Amino acid sequence: MPTIDRHLFVIFGATGDLTRRKLIPALYHVMQQDEGASNCYILGVARSDWSDDRFRSEAQEALQQHFETDALDQWCDDHLFYQSIGPESDRYGDLKDRIHTLEEAHALPGNRVFYLSLPPPTYGPTTEALGKEGLNNSDGWTRLVIEKPFGHDLDSAQELNALVHQHFDEAQVYRIDHYLGKETVQNLLAFRFGNALFEAVWNRDRIEQVEITVAESLGVAGRAGYYDDAGHLRDMVQNHLTQLFTLVAMEPPATFDADAIRDEKVKVLRATRPLDPARALLGQYTAGTHAGDEVRGYQEEEGVPEGSSTETFAQLPVYIDNWRWQGVPFILRSGKRLPQKLTQIAVRFECAPVSLFENAGAEAPSCSVSQNELIITLQPNEGFDLRFEVKQPGESMQLQTQKLSFRYEEAFGPVPDAYETLIRDIVQGDQTLFVRSDEVEASWALYAPLLAAERTPAPYPAGAWGPKAVAAPSPT
Ligand code: BG6
Repeated sequence: MPTIDRHLFVIFGATGDLTRRKLIPALYHVMQQDEGASNCYILGVARSDWSDDRFRSEAQEALQQHFETDALDQWCDDHLFYQSIGPESDRYGDLKDRIHTLEEAHALPGNRVFYLSLPPPTYGPTTEALGKEGLNNSDGWTRLVIEKPFGHDLDSAQELNALVHQHFDEAQVYRIDHYLGKETVQNLLAFRFGNALFEAVWNRDRIEQVEITVAESLGVAGRAGYYDDAGHLRDMVQNHLTQLFTLVAMEPPATFDADAIRDEKVKVLRATRPLDPARALLGQYTAGTHAGDEVRGYQEEEGVPEGSSTETFAQLPVYIDNWRWQGVPFILRSGKRLPQKLTQIAVRFECAPVSLFENAGAEAPSCSVSQNELIITLQPNEGFDLRFEVKQPGESMQLQTQKLSFRYEEAFGPVPDAYETLIRDIVQGDQTLFVRSDEVEASWALYAPLLAAERTPAPYPAGAWGPKAVAAPSPT
């Protein structure tokens, strides 16, 4: 495993929720596990007038939620620093001085990460300010990390890419989609390209349909300001679901390096038909019962403007016009306030060509028995289930569906957090799990017709699988 170079990890938005919940615990864990990383330092940057001590005590509190050790305060004192870039100071000049001071004090070679954990409208100005201050290059390596959503639509993503490229090379840029850091999402690549078994059937001749479900039980609680403007298409579909879709549909890459993999993902997006607004089913949750509790509808959530028509659910059939997938529907669906948290890819295989058996449980009228299905569960209870037919014991030839199952945790123990994987890759300079500029634009292009159309989501009660006739995902 490559070791980690000594570096300074600069977090913009250091007083925010993501820093506390994800970044600090992930950085701590990475630094504990890697000898090289124990000599790395973190500089938190934000507008609030915090001191080093305040940043350290907030970080320590966050770490205590995850790790039980007495040494946390010492670690925070040794590794964490804070710089306010309030409007009254020479913002980036002060920051640059502080970076130099820290690098000198800790004999760092000038390797730097700038992690923008900021509100999306500030990605552009912050990147520009770093460039203008000469912080886009150093004696070591410099990497820029940008959280999702990257842009608001195709035009704004193109503008942001152009601005980023004025100051940083693409090889320095790490666009985050945290789903790519999930162990089980990466395992999709291992599953597809490490096993010869399924490759022969992974195409339009043998697969009838692929359904990708990302269901959340939570509502929009506390994030209405961002979410009402973004809506579910921008918050979940354009990024997380689209990433899962490309990993399932891509061709085998020529090699296992970042660009070869990302080239194949882009090819899928370019071969995919832009979404037809008439075929999209959008929804918005209303009040309902969820896990036994009465919960509010989206319109009654704090901060949601009256009469908002923002979608909180989407179900979209997507078609890829290429030799492998022509005619196979990929159903992407995702929503908030659904019955349970579940991320699942269900691959349904074609019926047997000739029906020799009768079975009342058959799912499609043309099939006399239930169809084989491969269910890849990405969270929770990560694993695979392959459903197939067996003969029920007894005289008559009655078939029953059974499954072969694999559960990740049973085999390997708890899976690491996505942010830990992503942070390790950033500091090791591996861009495989990050979204390239052409990829993010191709993905926005796909949803452009739908985002441009007037959207009137259908209501669905909290705790249902969506509006109207939306069926529950396949059981595992
Ligand atoms: C985020 C979205 O990117 O992903 C949230 O902004 C969503 O709205 C979250 O809740 C879901 O992530 P996970 O890892 O909990 O499935």
